[in-house]
Amino acid sequence: MREIDREIRKILREIIGKREKAIKNGETDNDDLLGLLLESNMRQSNGNAKLGLSTEDVIEECKLFYFAGMETTSVLLTWTLILLSMHPEWQERAREEVLSHFGRAKPDFDSLSRLKTVTMILYEVLRLYPPATFLNRRTYKDMELGGIKYPAGVNLLLPLLFIHHDPDIWGKDASEFNPARFADGISNATKHQGAFFPFGGGPRICIGQNFALLEAKMALCAILQRFSFELSPSYTHAPYTVITLHPQHGAPIRLKKL
Ligand code: HEM
Repeated sequence: MREIDREIRKILREIIGKREKAIKNGETDNDDLLGLLLESNMRQSNGNAKLGLSTEDVIEECKLFYFAGMETTSVLLTWTLILLSMHPEWQERAREEVLSHFGRAKPDFDSLSRLKTVTMILYEVLRLYPPATFLNRRTYKDMELGGIKYPAGVNLLLPLLFIHHDPDIWGKDASEFNPARFADGISNATKHQGAFFPFGGGPRICIGQNFALLEAKMALCAILQRFSFELSPSYTHAPYTVITLHPQHGAPIRLKKL
């Protein structure tokens, strides 16, 4: 682990060094996330230590954004392809919607946010196979929650996956894939506000949730426009958690060009 950590830090330091040089030489318009982080880092070098990020902070942010942003969205897309293979009727409905909005053309930002069936499908995949299966919190002082007193230093685990599968909250078909439950939005899909929280909640809610859904929609549209797909017979259904929720034996999928 230490070796991997050293390697990742070295790669990131090189990327950061290159960018810093490019900024100094005026060779970049610097309009991306790394640019923003480095701007903050440079404010620190200008003597305003409290305002800026240190280079170590920038490295940590790069690691967080890469991991939080890549793994999660990629498993969401993977489970979506698996579930749409298992439920070809929903695959067809999604394709019809995508083709009726865009035909074979590249989707534009505004229309992507108007896709109803695709959004319902992504919500239902996030409900059944949330990339983050639980959230952790620790009490930093003595506190009372829901009538129970906790001392400082207690680790609390919010079992997102179990709450998303609870029949008392979602009804008898809680474990079935039924995107129609989201037809009237998230608040009408469950009896309890807040029972659907694949992106967390409160002050630490996922900062990338809108971006993630947009990315997933973009990728899904591109696939639906060009291919129909089904699970290969070698697929074995075995969801398991290695930080995020994965199909343990991969997702062998057969694509057929349309
Ligand atoms: C399907 C995709 C995604 C899922 C399911 C997801 C889920 C989550 C969850 C549950 C949290 C809260 C963790 C907690 O409360 O302990 C979180 C935080 C975070 N996510 Fe995402 N995420 C996704 C995509 C992304 C993307 C695309 C980005 C960045 C571009 C991103 C960046 C972050 C960051 C920076 C945090 C930490 C926020 C903070 O602590 O203030 N996530 N995400």
